[in-house]
Formats: sequence, structure tokens, C-alpha cells
Amino acid sequence: MDIEHVRSRFKKHFDGAEGYVFASPGRINLIGEHTDYNGGFVFPGAVDKGIIAEIRPNGTDKVKAYSIDLKDYVEFGLNEEDAPKASWARYIFGVCREMIKRGVEVKGFDTAFAGDVPLGAGMSSSAALESTYAFALNELFGEGKIDKFELAKVGQATEHNYCGVNCGIMDQFASVFGKKGHLMRLDCRSLEYQYFKFEPVGYRLVLVDSVVKHELASSAYNKRRQSCENVVAEIKKNHPEVEFLRDCTMDMLNEVKANVSEEDFMRAEYVIEEVQRVLDVCDALEKGDYETVGQKMYETHQGMSKLYEVSCDELDFLNDTAFDCGVTGSRVMGGGFGGCTINLVKNELYDTFVTTVKERFAKKFGRSPKIYDVVIGDGSRRLV
Ligand code: GLA
Repeated sequence: MDIEHVRSRFKKHFDGAEGYVFASPGRINLIGEHTDYNGGFVFPGAVDKGIIAEIRPNGTDKVKAYSIDLKDYVEFGLNEEDAPKASWARYIFGVCREMIKRGVEVKGFDTAFAGDVPLGAGMSSSAALESTYAFALNELFGEGKIDKFELAKVGQATEHNYCGVNCGIMDQFASVFGKKGHLMRLDCRSLEYQYFKFEPVGYRLVLVDSVVKHELASSAYNKRRQSCENVVAEIKKNHPEVEFLRDCTMDMLNEVKANVSEEDFMRAEYVIEEVQRVLDVCDALEKGDYETVGQKMYETHQGMSKLYEVSCDELDFLNDTAFDCGVTGSRVMGGGFGGCTINLVKNELYDTFVTTVKERFAKKFGRSPKIYDVVIGDGSRRLV
């Protein structure tokens, strides 16, 4: 992330002025996919890539926003009817509105931002953007009175209310709470979380980007969520205490097999198994048992591909290639429908794996995948 770049662009666009500078990261997730909105566990970490924004209150009731990467400038007011059309600006607008709803007296500001989280790669570039502005507006207009969880919820509500994605809390949580060198296990029902030092000796994490852009809003993400809710409603008839799929066992699911669609059944089966896999991975990590961690990652991929059906040919191919190369663990990461696989690779295998996966992918799909080494970084913060 290049702060000087952002500062010089801000100066140029806003008459030589200087503002305050904030940053928030994208995220990875070791395991626990599509479990967040099912009240289950997730295991993300923030990365060293993210969004940097410079912001300065401008004494008006207008936000003047410049996207440095897209070279696009948008102005909007702060009332509900002022929603801008540009999708990148809707994130900022949504955050302003959600902060206002929580009692923060947001006023007009000038802002320019840039990022280095690859877009549509499943690394939560949008959460990074939301967290940056939620954190910044809290400092600049809210005297820091909104707590960190609520800031994450501001980002999530922005997705729900202004961007059409009924996402869970994982991405925004990871972006706000990230800590260098640590993964976080979050219980998405109680919102209890725990930091886990993540320094795998002899292994490294690498992302392989299929460069198939995932588009959560237009994809079947919301439909997956609906399937889960359908099954819960059915199970609740026999077990009123059940609130989320997280509370369900395979026995409970089997009881309602005749009453739910085959598709909904498969979705729920995946989630019930995935919730357990996060716990298994935490146990394995505490014992330094990376082989088990890796095996669970492969199981997640199978589940996401065959039961939850959020993979695609390119991602399945990347997963198969990782397996062929002897990579310890590999799976599609994030919402799916494109984006990256996350791979747990032995140090000595790294070079061969990267060369092989690039070669084979290019041969099959006619373009190169992108490789990102994972560095676990800090969450939302003020830089200047
Ligand atoms: C997206 C959503 C998250 C989560 C993941 C899948 O990243 O924003 O809330 O559901 O997909 O684990």
C-alpha cells in the first residue's frame, strides 16, 4: 500500500490540501466458508494489502470522493435520496448513512483513496473500503464512540442495504480486527473471538488467483443464504431451540430430508460439516499438525464444489493441480464463484508448485493465474 501515492493525488485534486489518512486491509480465511451467516465459526486474518484513504472535512454537506485507481470523481449528499450511481461510491455513501443511523453527525468531506487488494479475488476489497471509511468517520465525526464490532456491522449493513449482498460479518470483522501475525477465530453467533498466532514452521500460505472475477451481488450468494434459512425453518418445527444451521446436527437434517429440496439439503450438509471443520483445524493448529489442517482444507473444497456449488472449472483445476503437486492443503477461498484458492504449501515445494500451477493453468485456460504470498497484517488504523 503506497501512502505517498494517495497523498499526492489528494493534494492534486483538492487544491494542495492535506487531510487525515486511514487504512484497512483485505483478508484471507484459512477455513470456515459460508459459516458466518449460519452462526458458525470463521478463521480469517487480515492481509498486508488493503485500502488507503485521505479524508478532510470540507465544511459543506457534500462528500467529494475521488477513486485514484479508477480515475473517477463523484459528489453526493448525505441524505438517503442522495445515493450515487457508481458502485464504488455507494460503499462510501452506505457507510456514511449507516454511521448517521448510529448517531454520528457525519458532515461533508473531501476524500481520495486507492487500494492494492485485487478486485473480485475473494479477498474482500469491498470490506476494506467500508472499514476504512467506518473507522475514519468514527474518528473524525464520532469522537471514536462507535466500538469496533459496530464498525464492522456498519460495513456489513452497507452491503445489505446499499449493495445488495446479504453477507455475513466475517470480512468486515477481519478487516477491522486484524492483527499482524495472527489469525482470528470468530464465533459468529456469540461474536466471541480469539487470536491465534500463525507462524507455520516449514509452511507458507499462498493464494492462486484464477482471475475469474466473482461478483457476489449478481451471483447466487444470496440464494445460498436463502437455502440455509429454508432448512433452518424446517428443522425448527421439530427443534424450536434451533436458530442457525450452526445449531443443527446431521441427524436433525436427515429428519427433514423429505421436506426440503435436494439442493437445500446439500447446502445445509456442507455448512454443518464446515462448522465442525473449523474447530478441527483449530485443534490441529494447536498441536502443530499441519497435515490435518491441509486435509480439512481439501475437504472444504470438495464441499464447496460438490455440495455448496460455489466453485468453477478454473478453481477446481487449481485445486486438483495443488493436490497433484503434493500441496498440503488447498481450497477455494471466500464466497466462491471465482477468485482465489488458498494453499498451505511446504517451503521446499513452493517453487515447483508455483511454476507447475502457472504452466498447467495457462495451457488449459490460455492465461496465467496470479500468485499472492500471504502476509498477515494489521486491521483498520489511522496512519497520519
Ligand atoms: C463473502 C461474504 C462473507 C462470507 C464469505 C464466505 O466473503 O462477504 O460474509 O459469507 O463470502 O465465507
